[in-house]
Amino acid sequence: MEHYIFDIFSCDQMNEFGLKIAKKIPNGTVIALLGDLGAGKTTLVRGVARGLNINEVVQSPTFNIMKLYLKGDRPLIHIDAYRLADINNDIGLDEYIGYETGLTMIEWPLYIENLLPENTLWINISSISETSRKIDIYSLDPSLVEVLK
Ligand SMILES: Nc1ncnc2c1ncn2[C@@H]1O[C@H](COP(=O)(O)OP(=O)(O)OP(=O)(O)O)[C@@H](O)[C@H]1O
Ligand SMILES: [Mg+2]
Repeated sequence: MEHYIFDIFSCDQMNEFGLKIAKKIPNGTVIALLGDLGAGKTTLVRGVARGLNINEVVQSPTFNIMKLYLKGDRPLIHIDAYRLADINNDIGLDEYIGYETGLTMIEWPLYIENLLPENTLWINISSISETSRKIDIYSLDPSLVEVLK
């Protein structure tokens, strides 16, 4: 599988990475965000939202499970599956995953792994220290990884 691994050293760089995703990743892509509590998953979604010219404040959707942003350049769907751990996840989320005209970004994706498409773009955020992070990007669709290089 195609991997692209790099380090970032600040929230600003995470935001820049989000802008790049917003510009380069094609519609219909499902982005699965792996990483511990506080890794920076929501921070990255905020960067993508900015890149899509979404003016609403992106908050952790933990209490909504899903939030749909329709007022930017293209739709952004933000899912946080944290609260779906150990419960039946057949709650209709599949309708929003891989939304044709936009991007879907999913925190805690392993809790809804059965709903993810084969060509999901995985982003694993690890090596968490005060402000630096390791980013590992991979997908069965190598073109999704290539465009971010
Ligand atoms: N380089 C960085 N990238 C992202 N966040 C960073 C970075 N450095 C510091 N932070 C801080 O780490 C925290 C990341 O929080 P965030 O809510 O994005 O994490 P999360 O992965 O969504 O966690 P959760 O699983 O609880 O939803 C923020 O307080 C952010 O300011
Ligand atoms: Mg979060």
